Amino acid sequence: MSVDAAHWRRPTVAVLATGGTIAGEAADAARTVGYTAGVVGVDRLLAAVPALGRVAAIRAEQVANIDSKDIDEALWITLARRVNALLAQDDIDGLVIAHGTDTLEETAYWLHLTVASAKPVVLTAAMRPFTALSADGSLNLLNAVTLAARPDAAARGVLVAFANRIHSARDITKVSTYAVDAFASPESGVLGWVQDGRVEFQRRVTRAHTIESVFKLEAIDTQHALPAVQIIVSHAGVSRVVVDALVDAGVRGIVVAGTGNGSIHATLQRALADARARGVAVVRSSRVGSGHVMRNGAAPDDALGLVSAGTLNPYKARVLLMLALAHGWSEPAMLQSLFDQY
Ligand code: SIN
Repeated sequence: MSVDAAHWRRPTVAVLATGGTIAGEAADAARTVGYTAGVVGVDRLLAAVPALGRVAAIRAEQVANIDSKDIDEALWITLARRVNALLAQDDIDGLVIAHGTDTLEETAYWLHLTVASAKPVVLTAAMRPFTALSADGSLNLLNAVTLAARPDAAARGVLVAFANRIHSARDITKVSTYAVDAFASPESGVLGWVQDGRVEFQRRVTRAHTIESVFKLEAIDTQHALPAVQIIVSHAGVSRVVVDALVDAGVRGIVVAGTGNGSIHATLQRALADARARGVAVVRSSRVGSGHVMRNGAAPDDALGLVSAGTLNPYKARVLLMLALAHGWSEPAMLQSLFDQY
């Protein structure tokens, strides 16, 4: 036995299950659609992967068991509080969250900004239900626990282990409705790989996250509510009706999934100018799916006080805008500075 092996202490990893296809069940093993997500409990998920015991001691919790399309801000807040509480314990080395793929990128970015710990936090998921032939969840779970148990996965922000790749919560997005390899990190690329117990990193995240984040859960009121922020899309023939309805309903922020470099149809731009005049924060992101949205002279950013989302997609831009507004930051210059840092 080597000296390292003699001193190896089995790490403890908390596994929080929230539902998703990884916990999905179908009537027939040949079905990869037409199943119910969020059915199988965390104990059954773990029992299907005996190899986990060689990697870490597991503390399992069932936080929810839902289809992630139905996730809401109250569950994000509950999850972030639980993650912070567990990571504050000396005997927890890392944490894994089993989640649905559909909104994984939003939950991951939410935690990237609200987890106040440098310990590894790794989300994982599956594209095929637990009951399917060639289900991908068990291997993804093993890889996620392998990563969360590693000291060198610390201080990298929230990570996602999926299909042998390691992604940053900031960059990952779902890019396929059906493929087992359903995620990518456009523009930035993956952080590294996890395969057969080996972990390899190729780059670090440079934007602020976790312990460097200014966002504190305590700033969010006890009602489990975040300021109302909605996403709209600019497209050919778009009407201003949605913007007007949102403003009348009291929305505090609007993220526009614009065309190209976050450009906005003239009809929508007039409605958003009126929204700005009524104090609504407006962020320009893009519906393209990759690239960044840059402030530029042609865009109405300065004239109207719009904020550009950089490389954040509309769903993540919404998370950041909600957190900023919850902390009382709504001035365009302050919001732009936050979008430039996070
Ligand atoms: C979900 O997001 O909960 C269902 C879809 C999936 O996990 O792939």
